[in-house]
Amino acid sequence: MKEGQPKAIELKDYQVPAYLIDSTELHVEINDDVTLVTTTLIVRKNPESTAGTSDLVLDGGKELVTRSVKIDDRDLSSNEYGEEPEVLTLFDVPDNFTLRTQVAIKPQDNTALEGLYKSGDMYCTQCEAEGFRNITWYLDRPDVMSKYRTTIDANKSQYPILLSNGNDVARGESGERHWVTWEDPFMKPAYLFALVAGDLQHIEDSFTTMSGREVKLQIFTESHNIDKCDYAMLSLKNSMKWDEEAYGREYDLDIFMIVAVESFNMGAMENKGLNIFNTSCVLARADTTTDLGYQRVEAVVGHEYFHNWSGNRVTCRDWFQLSLKEGFTVLRDQQFSAAMGSPTVCRINDVARLRGAQFPEDAGPMAHPIRPDAYIEINNFYTATVYEKGAEVVHMIRTLLGADNFRKGTDLYFDRHDGQAVTTEEFVKAMEDANGADLSQFRLWYSQAGTPVLVIDGEYDAGAGTYTLNAAQQCPATPGQADKQANHMPLCVGLLDSAGQDMPLTVRAGSDGVSPLAYIENADGQQTAVLNFTQAQQQFVFEGVTEKPVPSLLRGFSAPVKLSFDYSRDELMFLMSFDADGFNRWEASQRLAVQVIQEVVGQIQQGEKPQVDARLITACQNNLDQAVERNLDSTFDKAMIAEMLVLPSETYLAELVEVADVDAIHSAREAVRDAIARQLSGVLLAVYKLNQDDKAFEPSATECARRSLKNVALAYLMQPDDTEMVPLCVAQYKSANCMTDTSAAIRALVNSAAPAAQLAKEEALTQFYHRWVEEALVIDQWFSVQASSPLPGALDKVKALLEHSAFSMKNPNRLRSVVVAFAFQNNVNFHSKDGAGYTFLADMVIGLNSINPLVAARILSPLTRWRKYDAARQELMKAQLQRILETPELSKDVFEVVSKSV
Ligand code: BES
Ligand code: ZN
Repeated sequence: MKEGQPKAIELKDYQVPAYLIDSTELHVEINDDVTLVTTTLIVRKNPESTAGTSDLVLDGGKELVTRSVKIDDRDLSSNEYGEEPEVLTLFDVPDNFTLRTQVAIKPQDNTALEGLYKSGDMYCTQCEAEGFRNITWYLDRPDVMSKYRTTIDANKSQYPILLSNGNDVARGESGERHWVTWEDPFMKPAYLFALVAGDLQHIEDSFTTMSGREVKLQIFTESHNIDKCDYAMLSLKNSMKWDEEAYGREYDLDIFMIVAVESFNMGAMENKGLNIFNTSCVLARADTTTDLGYQRVEAVVGHEYFHNWSGNRVTCRDWFQLSLKEGFTVLRDQQFSAAMGSPTVCRINDVARLRGAQFPEDAGPMAHPIRPDAYIEINNFYTATVYEKGAEVVHMIRTLLGADNFRKGTDLYFDRHDGQAVTTEEFVKAMEDANGADLSQFRLWYSQAGTPVLVIDGEYDAGAGTYTLNAAQQCPATPGQADKQANHMPLCVGLLDSAGQDMPLTVRAGSDGVSPLAYIENADGQQTAVLNFTQAQQQFVFEGVTEKPVPSLLRGFSAPVKLSFDYSRDELMFLMSFDADGFNRWEASQRLAVQVIQEVVGQIQQGEKPQVDARLITACQNNLDQAVERNLDSTFDKAMIAEMLVLPSETYLAELVEVADVDAIHSAREAVRDAIARQLSGVLLAVYKLNQDDKAFEPSATECARRSLKNVALAYLMQPDDTEMVPLCVAQYKSANCMTDTSAAIRALVNSAAPAAQLAKEEALTQFYHRWVEEALVIDQWFSVQASSPLPGALDKVKALLEHSAFSMKNPNRLRSVVVAFAFQNNVNFHSKDGAGYTFLADMVIGLNSINPLVAARILSPLTRWRKYDAARQELMKAQLQRILETPELSKDVFEVVSKSV
């Protein structure tokens, strides 16, 4: 290890805090040049600590300028404390005392956006995970919980609104300044602290809880955004209601506030009673926000609200337990979105996200279990694994126990641990204790990284009337974990008869160990066996099977694994039409498409002309024909048809093979799209027209489904290079009454190589920019549509965009609208053979390293996936990682990701 290299923090070294802080009083005096933070802490020795020290060691950011340190009102002399970078040690303190410190900070210079910073003209905070230490000296760890009382003092006209957690208990003014005091009655860790000061407007509503308490709801924004808050308010009320019904959880303060800020590293933050949101996750208006944007607002508002119980009332003991709150809360927001819209489509999107982001992570150098063992920088562990796989792990517990028993488990968990900082172990234990269940083997999901691979085959014995599934599971090695044990997972299985109906199921009992059958689920025409898959190799025998079935495996995506079963294309078409499980109907369509695209990849690699299997075209045609026939049938799910028509992404196709041939995958997928578009042009146009409608925008599930089907059809119609549909697309662009339709049209134009589209796209882009120049989130879309276009020459375009006056490295949304759109969503261009895409990304990471390390480390992940590519690309990617590693003053964030990747 090089000298001065950052050290890893390990779970096994956890120790309880040596001191506790019973009360925290903050006085924050905001001035243009400097902000003064005076902190009064009531400190006591932790009776549970065996550390045997009488030194108090506090955390503090590099930028704190200490002005004074007092114990029980007495200034400490220089030999009574020591200050090193990021650590303040008070020597030989009493067992009980009051500590008062004062520091000076400069939020206006805080470009990392952690701690107290300025977003435009307003002051706001982001304290998770370790941002609070940038505000004051503190025990900045989640197992130190305290009661907070916060006074904010600022100029009255510049900052008329002053907010913090809890209830507003006192206020006053003198001259040009005013102050407000907030008190939060709940104990909380420092990461849930929040403060906002600005010139803000708000909308207000109220919610009556199940016990009849009235809660005031407020959403704050700068004045130009106040007309985009209504959907978030509706989503908030829906979330509050849903959490009462689904989990019996009631809100606990008299007021709940959301503040929208433009510069924010993440999506949103669940600070107690005062959530702070990235504008992109709270604002929505028909003409500025796509349906996807609306869905995001609903999901994020729900997610942060649900944290009030799963995260705030019961919090994490340490950051290794992050999935305790995040995985569980992601599951909760997924369930909420499913309840508000189409459950199958939600599940499809959740799984697509897992496969698109988490599977690659699990296969790369940063692979880690949902409860990591070690980290250098905790910011790097807010990952798809901790979040999405974490949600899948809790989802599996729910499947294994059944919905009602799962609820018994969550009730016990919340009851037992209310007000505590706990571990994932306590969560699993509550699930066991509430149900007398044994999840000992299941716990491996928390400690083992990697995506298990399931290989299954089926044998029908007509004489015995049995159908046997031979199932094997194997988990590939990941960094630091060479050998893996078999996982306990629910394998949900249905058997279809030749008429496409679910057969009644009887599962043969096992001879020892865990019973192979957890239970059988019967729901409208569906009969699903929830099997306990626990061994590396295991047989499941179904009895009384009267004909050879087609198995529907892993229904509802019952475990986060890769499943291989040798389906014929005819079987996949059969499942697509008849499987009672909606998720598996979609899955069959994707498997069929994968097989066909992979075949075309092979043809392209051999220099042959692409031949697209007619069965895939027929399958798409069946779906489109149905969409025509059942256009007015309200039980027909158009969103589902739209999902079935979308081919698997290039990222997912790359994920499925050992070495990804980026260009061949792109060309093959395009060739298949082309074939579908040309052979089905008639019915595509019919579906487009049937679903074109200019009634007023509604964000309802039905309307959103109609728009998504129409816009999938539009994208196909615009696919061929000689398309005649440019005028239709331009007409949609011009007459659209919502951003979903505007955006689909401009995207289709920008992505089109058709000569007729070239002038049209330039005109549309110019018009779009001028029309929306005042709307930051729409301008983000303008950048991103261009940066993600797969047409040749994207990198030059991207470089030109960086020079645009509206581009800024300091606003994470704007930065992501260019860099993430290019490096994550534009495979062919990012991976161009000459390596220019890699050099570009490395330049961006190096530039951002000193401005915003958290975001810098997050955008570099495409470079860490070098093992997926051919030797020449591997060399080019590694060279750029090496160049980043040699950057002077590399942040911990970037250092950790890069050093683990080279
Ligand atoms: N607690 C996080 C926000 C956070 C993450 C703060 C990382 C600091 C560092 C919040 O609850 C969250 O998870 N937000 C997600 C969105 C959510 C819908 C998954 C986000 O910000 O992306
Ligand atoms: Zn969260």
